[in-house]
Amino acid sequence: MANRTLTLSTFRYNPYDPDLGPRMQEYILEETPRMTLFTALTRIREDMDPSLQFDFVCRSAVCGSCAMLVNGHPRLACRTRTDQLPTKINLHPLPFFRLIGDLSVDTGSWFAEMAHRVESWVHTSKAFNPDGEEERMSNDQALSVYELERCIECGCCVAACVTAQMRDDFLGAAGLLRVARFWIDPRDQRTDADFYDVVGTDAGVFGCVGLLACHDYCPKNLPLMEQLAYLRRRIMLASLRSAVGKKERQPKEPEAVP
Ligand code: FES
Repeated sequence: MANRTLTLSTFRYNPYDPDLGPRMQEYILEETPRMTLFTALTRIREDMDPSLQFDFVCRSAVCGSCAMLVNGHPRLACRTRTDQLPTKINLHPLPFFRLIGDLSVDTGSWFAEMAHRVESWVHTSKAFNPDGEEERMSNDQALSVYELERCIECGCCVAACVTAQMRDDFLGAAGLLRVARFWIDPRDQRTDADFYDVVGTDAGVFGCVGLLACHDYCPKNLPLMEQLAYLRRRIMLASLRSAVGKKERQPKEPEAVP
C-alpha cells in the first residue's frame, strides 16, 4: 500500500515574539510505517523547521511531556500512531497550562503547585530512623497505592476537564487522585477532617461536574472516575460522622478502589 501524505497543521506562537501573532502552519510529509506523531514532529524539526517547539523526553509514555491536542483531543504524541488518524492532523498546545511556545506548555509549575496544595507527602509524627526497617503494609494496600502512583503528570486529564477551563484553582483529576493516593496510605496519619480541608471545596471534589473526560483521555488508563467516587464517599462519611457524633453507630469505611 502506498504511503499516505500527511498534512500537519500546527499551532505556532512564541510569547517572546508577540509581533508574530498566533497562527497555524502546515507541514507536509510522507507517512512511514508505524510512524508516531512524535516521529513526525521530530522529522519536521530536523528536516524542515528547527524553530518548531514541542516537548519530549522518554518517547515511551513515561515522562508525560509530549501531551498536546490532536484534532481537539488531549493525547501523548509519542503514543499516537499517525495511521490511526486522518491525513489532515491539527495540533494545538494543551489548554489550561502556561504556553511556552508552539506546542510546548509548562505543566511542571502547575503540578508542583498542586502537590504543595494537597501536601503530597506522607504525614506522620514518627521520627525517621535511618537504621530502622521499612514500614510494612499488606500486598493489597501496596498494590492500591502503586496503582495511584502511575500518574505521569502529562496534564491530559486537566486539559480535557471542563471545570478546569472555567476555574484555574480546580485541583483536577490529577490532584484528586493524589489526595486519594495518600488517603489510602496506611502510613499517612492525617484524619478525615484534614483531608476534607484539602478537597471538600468547589476547587476539589465538589467542583467536578461529572462529565469525566479526564477518565476518557487519561493515557495511562488510571481509575479516575472510581477515585472521584471514592473521595466523595469518604467526604460524605466524614461529614456524617461529625454530624451523628460518637454515640451513634459509625458508617462503614469505603474500600480503596484499585
Ligand atoms: S515523550 Fe515521554 S510521554 Fe511522550
